[in-house]
Amino acid sequence: MSVNSLAPSWLPFPDDANDLASTVWSTNATRSATGELTIAGVPASEIASTFGTPVYVLDEDDARGRATAIRESFDAALASVGSSAKVYYAGKAFLSIQVAKWMLDAGLNIDVCSGGELAVALAAGAPGARLGLHGNNKSQAEIDRAVSIGIGAIVIDSIIEIERVADAASRFDRVQPVRLRINSGVHAHTHEFLATAREDQKFGIPLSEAADVVRRIRSHASLEFLGLHSHIGSQIFESEGFAEAARRLFAVHAELLAEGPVPELNLGGGFGIAYTSVDDALPVDEIATRFAEIVSTGAAALGIPVPIIAIEPGRAIIGPSTTTLYTVGTIKDVLVTDGAGTTSGAGESEAGAIRKYVSIDGGMSDNVRPSLYGADYSVRIANRTSTAEPALVRIAGKHCESGDIVVHADYLPGDITPGDLVGIPATGAYCWSMASNYNYLGRPPVVAVRNGEARVIVRGETEADLLRRDTGLETETP
Ligand SMILES: Cc1ncc(COP(=O)(O)O)c(C=O)c1O
Repeated sequence: MSVNSLAPSWLPFPDDANDLASTVWSTNATRSATGELTIAGVPASEIASTFGTPVYVLDEDDARGRATAIRESFDAALASVGSSAKVYYAGKAFLSIQVAKWMLDAGLNIDVCSGGELAVALAAGAPGARLGLHGNNKSQAEIDRAVSIGIGAIVIDSIIEIERVADAASRFDRVQPVRLRINSGVHAHTHEFLATAREDQKFGIPLSEAADVVRRIRSHASLEFLGLHSHIGSQIFESEGFAEAARRLFAVHAELLAEGPVPELNLGGGFGIAYTSVDDALPVDEIATRFAEIVSTGAAALGIPVPIIAIEPGRAIIGPSTTTLYTVGTIKDVLVTDGAGTTSGAGESEAGAIRKYVSIDGGMSDNVRPSLYGADYSVRIANRTSTAEPALVRIAGKHCESGDIVVHADYLPGDITPGDLVGIPATGAYCWSMASNYNYLGRPPVVAVRNGEARVIVRGETEADLLRRDTGLETETP
């Protein structure tokens, strides 16, 4: 075993660099008898030869299963404290017509944050009542459309929006249910949370102004106030941040109850998932039990009933379902000496340590999270296993940016070679939905796999698609 000194301290040297950690890979990802990665019975090489690479491979039963499990867990946990839950799937994580249908089938509502996301949910046949609309700058057209289709809830994010939503509701002769987004001053990420009087960010209304703003909402006959809303961050592993936000919101919730009905409290999304084998995400039934304790304790302390608890997870439902498959193109062993790297032949050197740069046929255009905010991922060879000594690798994209890295550090068998397929798990959330055409790469297809069958649920873009939007040949100056 040779631990590479360039490896980050959190990354363990693997017992087996072919192993698919069950916490990270989708439920139906396994190795076949020949060692190939197989997802829901479909071998990686078959997916690559049929659909090309890069390709997002979505394990349908995994996504459906997580959606059902989260809804059932929250239903049961809230029922045990005399209330009920409303689970929204946060469509921003990944939305397509098929996925929207699966979420509706699993009994979830869908949360959208733009006219485009609303259009996808409606195309999937979502009844307006099962949708919610968010956003800090909804256009009047987006508000009008949402109101006109009878949307179940609009989250008001600023004072200016009260009139806009009230006016739309009057024009469409509706009473529009609304929530009020609160900037609780609590911000959480992984194991830490920060609690201040007010967070310096664009979303919501300060808690101290909530009572006045709700009075303004209630003064409109065309609006029905459902309750407060808070979303404290993403990829959260501990429940203390939610508990602190709930405590802060409950105090105001109780004040508001004295002046009128407040049937619900929305605590947002943000539940963390495992991207690497060292990430330790809480099981959903534990999250649900913890939430029920937090809200029942909070309500009891103030002598008020436990409201209906709404939540909006995205990543925890869709993130683990997807593996992106890529083909390896070039490989370089870079000798890193005192921070300055020079290309060497291969192998270890006393002058420094080797980092193996493995370049793939996608990158920041299909997964921007590592370059955008340093997110960590893991990687495995997909077309075979190998007993070669593990080598520290960095998976680099093909874009013209040195920051175009998809996996900062993991170990792969050292005989990784051009033409191998690699799979990067847990790419279901905020990868396809944030994809771009940087360097004129077409966005890859999304292929759903189930019971040995694969089908495209979102087509990949071709060069023709990319050129279709360019009017340069039609509008040449004479
Ligand atoms: C208001 C709101 N709700 C829900 C979510 C979903 O978060 P996650 O996918 O981390 O569960 C987000 C994500 O940014 C959000 O902004």
